Amino acid sequence: MIASQTHLWAAVLTVISFLAPQQAVAQTPINPALCHCYLTNGTAPRYFTNHKFFDFRNIANPRVPPPINNRDGSTNAPVTNAYFNSANFTNTWSIQSWVDSGAIYNTYSKNDVYIESNTDPNPASRTYLTLRTYRHPAGNFQSSAEIQSISPNYQFLSMRMYSRTRGASGAVSAMFTYRGGATEADVQEADMEILTSDPNNEIHYTNQPSMVSGESRPNATHEIAIPGTWTAWRTHRYDWTPGLSSWYVDGRLVNSNAFQAPVDPANILFNTWSDGGSWSGTMASGQSAQMQIQWIELIYNNTAEPSRFAHCANVCSLDRGTQPGVPSLVSSGP
Ligand SMILES: *[C@@H]1O[C@H](CO)[C@@H](O)[C@H](O)[C@H]1NC(C)=O
Ligand SMILES: *[C@@H]1O[C@H](CO)[C@@H](O)[C@H](O)[C@H]1NC(C)=O
Ligand SMILES: *[C@@H]1O[C@H](CO)[C@@H](O)[C@H](O)[C@H]1NC(C)=O
Ligand SMILES: *[C@@H]1O[C@H](CO)[C@@H](O)[C@H](O)[C@H]1NC(C)=O
Repeated sequence: MIASQTHLWAAVLTVISFLAPQQAVAQTPINPALCHCYLTNGTAPRYFTNHKFFDFRNIANPRVPPPINNRDGSTNAPVTNAYFNSANFTNTWSIQSWVDSGAIYNTYSKNDVYIESNTDPNPASRTYLTLRTYRHPAGNFQSSAEIQSISPNYQFLSMRMYSRTRGASGAVSAMFTYRGGATEADVQEADMEILTSDPNNEIHYTNQPSMVSGESRPNATHEIAIPGTWTAWRTHRYDWTPGLSSWYVDGRLVNSNAFQAPVDPANILFNTWSDGGSWSGTMASGQSAQMQIQWIELIYNNTAEPSRFAHCANVCSLDRGTQPGVPSLVSSGP
């Protein structure tokens, strides 16, 4: 941000802080550098310290990489687009490449994470990010896609993605937080999972573990019929606030669960996978499924219930603008 722009924003801020009607203030975009914290909306609104927006809607050189029909070749594949080597991406994310087999040999591959042209009629974007899972007829294996945050230190957040899932039965697409543990009982994980074998309006929301030593914990997981379908572009949102997980679709609360809500700092992940196991099911040979994402937004690390005027003079919101990723001013204190 160049100096003159900063001054302009400061002037805008001064003017709008005198405007009384909430709507007038709410709709006004603000230079993100002037936001001291972010207030989320919904049923468990909280204040958060940081904001990041990943925009996949206009990335250069989109292409759908042909599958690599070889297990080791898949595991060791390079990234498919220069964007994945850019600081915008690598500062926050790492594309996974590791073997995680079930009944079917499954490897996460960088070749299954790519930027694709949006060929929808009247497309809302030029491109989007695709996470693909594919059942290779040659070599009888599955390759899958996963991106994981570099930092394992997100503690409380509101994460959103504008996405859709499509393709063959036998895949899971997911947005989740994860913190490993010494035993399966110690894992802390909050999942939004779409199974392509389910009806296209059903989503599984879970505070893991849902199974410990072969015994299920039914309160950990809820299967919810969402309004509309997950095959269409939707904003999927997960809010992790102290003691509570809340999931939203297009700004509407669809599920909340206090049972086993995560406590300690965690990683953030997105994936699309299949391993022939009982959860994902088995994908037919030669078939694939994709989660396509236009943008990801992270609002994270909450402050203690703030003394707003001491710690956060300019409270911003990502929930009131007309454009995703652009904050607007909620209130401005001394
Ligand atoms: C990185 O992000 C900035 C700010 O959003 C944007 O202007 C720039 O084009 C991005 N670079 C790439 C390689 O995507
Ligand atoms: C969140 O805040 C904690 C405490 O200040 C910090 O250690 C951690 O690195 C932050 N996480 C991220 C992703 O910046
Ligand atoms: C699980 O949910 C049921 C029904 O809401 C409730 O009665 C029970 O106390 C819950 N169990 C635990 C361990 O939270
Ligand atoms: C919260 O903001 C989202 C946009 O992020 C919007 O779709 C939703 O309607 C808002 N919900 C409420 C209760 O204001």
